[in-house]
Amino acid sequence: MEDYSDKVVVVTGSAGGIGSALSEAFAQAGARLGLCDLRDAAATVECCGSAEVYTRVVDVGVEEQVAGFCQGVQETFGAIDILVNTVGIVDCPGDVEGLSTALWERALKVNLTAAFLMAKYAVPHMKARGGAILNIASVSGLANQEQAMVYSVSKAGLLSLTRSEAIDLARYKIRANAISPGSVDTPLLHEAVKEAGELYGRSSEDQWQVWEEQYPTRRFTQPAELAELALFLCSERAGNITGANFTIDGGLTALLPER
Ligand SMILES: NC(=O)c1ccc[n+]([C@@H]2O[C@H](COP(=O)([O-])OP(=O)(O)OC[C@H]3O[C@@H](n4cnc5c(N)ncnc54)[C@H](O)[C@@H]3O)[C@@H](O)[C@H]2O)c1
Repeated sequence: MEDYSDKVVVVTGSAGGIGSALSEAFAQAGARLGLCDLRDAAATVECCGSAEVYTRVVDVGVEEQVAGFCQGVQETFGAIDILVNTVGIVDCPGDVEGLSTALWERALKVNLTAAFLMAKYAVPHMKARGGAILNIASVSGLANQEQAMVYSVSKAGLLSLTRSEAIDLARYKIRANAISPGSVDTPLLHEAVKEAGELYGRSSEDQWQVWEEQYPTRRFTQPAELAELALFLCSERAGNITGANFTIDGGLTALLPER
């Protein structure tokens, strides 16, 4: 297991399914944590046990709030070593005609601009001793689905942001990588399965199975599996890995449909 006992790790979206799992994993590995979310992250803090935690309610789309949060982490712990951006919204359906401009802008702000803002205000505190940025993207950044345009556009942008961060920050020994998950077994997925089941007249259990069977491995990813990859990528063992994207999707994006 990785040792993060001398590291300060910032996790955005820490009240969410993936953010809470990653926060807990970094805490178990000994990290001190800076956690933020639009929602209260008390349940995540609870899961972090005895780890030292600085937590704030922050809208990561608002520049002043991001700047204040990063400053707060720096003042509390004296550094930021790792930045993990998990914030994202999926509830932004629509095609080029139907999607409202307001929803387009909101999705780009939360899914893409927020990761830029977090890096903008965390990097000055990371430069002294180097570190790592990890952006949680999606397989939707690699291939698109019907009526899900802006989600894919935002995640593709996040992958591009990751590459630029890797190139521009290498001189400070700051690495940047992305993870692109397929569906992960989180409350968000359970909700999506329920809604799709209602739409297609299936029980949630049947809908879950229909979706899982689309994966070559016949199953979704567990948050703990994603956490294992995250802990490796942010560690010194991955010291020459930067600008890369790692899919964790049970082979979904390797698969062509049957003819
Ligand atoms: N769950 C999946 O199956 C899956 C698959 C692929 C990619 N992803 C990506 O992983 C990330 C996390 O997904 P999740 O399943 O944990 O979702 P989630 O909805 O459980 O967590 C997202 C968190 O972000 C927070 N948030 C939203 N807008 C915010 C804002 N403006 N400021 C601060 N916090 C804000 C929410 O309050 C929530 O706690 C997302 O970026 C998502 O696109 C998830």
